[in-house]
Amino acid sequence: MADVEAVIQLKNVTKTYHLGGETLNALDNVNLTIQPGDFVAITGPSGSGKSTLANIIGGLDKPTSGNVIVDGSDLAELHDAKLSAYRNKHIGFVFQSFNLQATNTALENVSLPLVFQRMGSKARKARGVEVLQAVGLGDRIKFKPTQLSGGQRQRVAIARALAIKPSIILADEPTGNLDSARGQEIIKLLHDLNKQGITLIIITHDLSIARQAGRIVEIRDGKLVERRA
Ligand SMILES: Nc1ncnc2c1ncn2[C@@H]1O[C@H](COP(=O)(O)OP(=O)(O)OP(=O)(O)O)[C@@H](O)[C@H]1O
Ligand SMILES: [Mg+2]
Repeated sequence: MADVEAVIQLKNVTKTYHLGGETLNALDNVNLTIQPGDFVAITGPSGSGKSTLANIIGGLDKPTSGNVIVDGSDLAELHDAKLSAYRNKHIGFVFQSFNLQATNTALENVSLPLVFQRMGSKARKARGVEVLQAVGLGDRIKFKPTQLSGGQRQRVAIARALAIKPSIILADEPTGNLDSARGQEIIKLLHDLNKQGITLIIITHDLSIARQAGRIVEIRDGKLVERRA
């Protein structure tokens, strides 16, 4: 990936919902450029549009108008298969509720995304062990989510995000279900990954977390305000 190229560019992105005759702009003409290697925090009150923005950046959702350009390609012009390929190759998602498969072990959870990369089972297992070790869970690979603590579950989710060697990690309230000490461990882990070159986008309403980012952008009623560059 070329250093001068913007990883992600949002141009005049608007997301409109229509509910019972009411029109709601969850995002209102948002412009944002995120450079390779950035650590950006997106903050704002509940309902301001943070998750909507994260889902659009991650290609999980599409804007009503405007463009999302990632490494020079407009996501709107990618067919579903290519869009899935974009997600599976570039983006590691981390969610507040971990989103792990309850009946699968930590190792099975982290190696699952590699199935979509057509990686063979031996290589998947090796990569899975490697990323679980990287998040400090080498001794928990056979544990299922219910046998792990909240912080450990989130580390499994981060290992799963890392398995695909993403260029971007997109984390929507990754510490929302953790106490502050456990939350800070997760942020440190994510920050270390950013220092290794992965672009990091963290959605958080916790200002003590946001302040650790190189950049803070705030959303209010769907409109973006840059708090600190
Ligand atoms: N599918 C939908 N249909 C209608 N309105 C929606 C839909 N999804 C989100 N919204 C509305 O869009 C606005 C932004 O929602 P969003 O989930 O992005 O907020 P948020 O900033 O992530 O909030 P929180 O901090 O509570 O997670 C909200 O007012 C919400 O009601
Ligand atoms: Mg949200």
